[in-house]
Amino acid sequence: MSENIFDVSNVTLRFGGVVSLNDVTLEMRRGEILAVIGPNGAGKTSLFNSLTGVYEPQEGTITFTSRDGTVMSVIGQKAHRVASAGVARTFQASRMFSALTAFENVKIGAESHRGIGVLGAMLHGPRTRRGERESDALTIELMDFVGLRDKANTISASLSYGDRRRLEIARGLATNPQVLLLDEPAAGTNPSEKLELTELIRKVRDERGVSILLIEHDMKLVMALAERLYVLNFGSVIAQGTPEEIRANDAVIEAYLGAAPTTEGK
Ligand SMILES: Nc1ncnc2c1ncn2[C@@H]1O[C@H](COP(=O)(O)OP(=O)(O)OP(=O)(O)O)[C@@H](O)[C@H]1O
Ligand SMILES: [Mg+2]
Repeated sequence: MSENIFDVSNVTLRFGGVVSLNDVTLEMRRGEILAVIGPNGAGKTSLFNSLTGVYEPQEGTITFTSRDGTVMSVIGQKAHRVASAGVARTFQASRMFSALTAFENVKIGAESHRGIGVLGAMLHGPRTRRGERESDALTIELMDFVGLRDKANTISASLSYGDRRRLEIARGLATNPQVLLLDEPAAGTNPSEKLELTELIRKVRDERGVSILLIEHDMKLVMALAERLYVLNFGSVIAQGTPEEIRANDAVIEAYLGAAPTTEGK
């Protein structure tokens, strides 16, 4: 079996005259915490959208290799197929159903994975009831895992930023993914929430064996968490390496042009 969970090879993605990804080649190893950093507009979210089947790059190849050895060619694949193969994500801007409770938001993730549609819910046969009990159990386990057990019945809109970010991670995990893509998981959070999120993300990998791909502007968080990094600038990979190598890389320093590495991009 391939050691890589993702292989991205010479991927180019254009929107009219805009080149969002320019000949991007990268590999992600199974079990690692990998980060993608770069200035605003560098193509980070475009890369996530390409890895999840939301965008369809015009050139190159992207393969996802499942734990059981199944290889999926992602480009041209429907997003829900990529998701059910084991790729989950969170979004840069929160996509919680704000009127629902924390519990309900995570349960939706569990049910969507199970493929219980409206019809199944209406018929409500024994299989569905069993399925529902399983979804409930998984949801409770995940609320516990992310530290939100006591806020399960809180309306999502009234959760703090940090709690909402943790809730999004729980919802991502509800689909039982092999890899979790986190798009700025600490955006809008305060320093102590950032620390808690750092620990939670590491725990997701260590205890659940989920590989982590992370986009984050907060350099302190990224450097503390990532084992390897890729740096994007204007759609191109300009550097890759360990945190130490990236910190010392002249091209990276120039791309950020003194943009104090501890400030947040947004
Ligand atoms: N659906 C789209 N249609 C047109 N252009 C797009 C689309 N998605 C992304 N782009 C363009 O691709 C480029 C890269 O955008 P992207 O959102 O990937 O950057 P990013 O690195 O995530 O930036 P940020 O740090 O601000 O989130 C930008 O010029 C953006 O305008
Ligand atoms: Mg982005």
